[in-house]
Amino acid sequence: MLAGKRVLLIIGGGIAAYKCLELIRRLRERGISVRAVMTKAAAEFVTPLSVSSLTGDKVFTDLFSLTDEAEMGHIELSRDADLLVVAPATADLMAKMAHGLANDLASTVLMATDKPVLIAPAMNLRMWLHAATQRNLETLKGDDILVVGPTEGDMACGEFGPGRMAEPAEIIAAIEAHFTGAKPAARGPLSGLRALVTAGPTHEPIDPVRYIANRSSGKQGYALAAALARLGAETVLISGPTVLPAPPGVTVTRVETARDMLAATKAALPSDIAVCAAAVADWRVAEDAEQKIKKKPGEKGHKLALVENPDILATVSQLKKGRPQLVVGFAAETEKVIEHATAKRKRKGCDWIVANDVSPASGVMGGDLNTIHLIFDGGSEDWPILPKQAVAERLAQRIADHFTDRTSDK
Ligand code: C5P
Repeated sequence: MLAGKRVLLIIGGGIAAYKCLELIRRLRERGISVRAVMTKAAAEFVTPLSVSSLTGDKVFTDLFSLTDEAEMGHIELSRDADLLVVAPATADLMAKMAHGLANDLASTVLMATDKPVLIAPAMNLRMWLHAATQRNLETLKGDDILVVGPTEGDMACGEFGPGRMAEPAEIIAAIEAHFTGAKPAARGPLSGLRALVTAGPTHEPIDPVRYIANRSSGKQGYALAAALARLGAETVLISGPTVLPAPPGVTVTRVETARDMLAATKAALPSDIAVCAAAVADWRVAEDAEQKIKKKPGEKGHKLALVENPDILATVSQLKKGRPQLVVGFAAETEKVIEHATAKRKRKGCDWIVANDVSPASGVMGGDLNTIHLIFDGGSEDWPILPKQAVAERLAQRIADHFTDRTSDK
């Protein structure tokens, strides 16, 4: 039972601190009492008054104001709790915890406790990926500290990647899992299923230094792979050249050309789900030169002969043996979006097509927003304009619903 449990919430100084207000509300709805400690930096992001209004208790911020006998000491603060939750756990708080530093109330409480501790890291993706943070994370895991998140997505700093604090619902699930002894929610509706996702552009060599490419960033496919993995699918991401880091929990195979991408896709089969989000080059140079092509004196131009690349989506969709149960393609269109995408679904033989308008005015290519029409057998659905991250989550959920419906039909 969760009702009656006591959580000591330690709020670190990061933009994600605002999510703690929601977290406190949801914990209290479940009958869990919450007492909060805030670092000095946390109070720059949310006010102690907001936090205390929601906890219904004093907020503790200062180590040296706890000396009064009538006040709670830092030892009592942790003694009084069943679980300590650090959210957001900043890089600084994680480092202090890993190294046993105690120079403010939050870190002192964390040092003085013998209670279980759950952290929800949140920071810029480069800080998260930094070797020092990853080392500290390993140390903390070795110390039996529980960890939820971070997740991947658009960050307040304008970047994209891992480092976003887990949503309050995920933190609550982790807290519930701790108290009830249930398995944490790494298992989801897609558990036991395999998914493969292609993403990014392909590079087709012209000679050793030149290539044909396109403006795909890979963001949509990476976000999808992350979302499928979060729902429990064993996910393989086959990625053309991008600057994006591997999404957490996803196996990434990096390739350059369409032919490599096809080979890696075949190697990732069998799979229950295939989502082809890559912007595969339609053509490659018939014969890429072994040496850099030189300008010849007097030559006015240079002709390149192009040949067609294999179509990965069509190949996977039309497999006679071992076809994934659900094959999803993307259609980037600049006009008559639904009409063209509907024809494409038939031509390629996939089950769903996610059609998006990539006309220059839409700003979709390389941008963070996407307007989607989901096209399936016998109909289509228009989605509102959404961040690519939200498109990924919604699509992953649709995929999960598809598999749940099939199972419950049986
Ligand atoms: O024909 P078009 O390139 O517009 O189709 C887009 C869809 O087909 C996308 O899902 C893309 O990933 C996939 N595709 C592919 N292999 C190709 C070309 C496109 O998998 N050679």
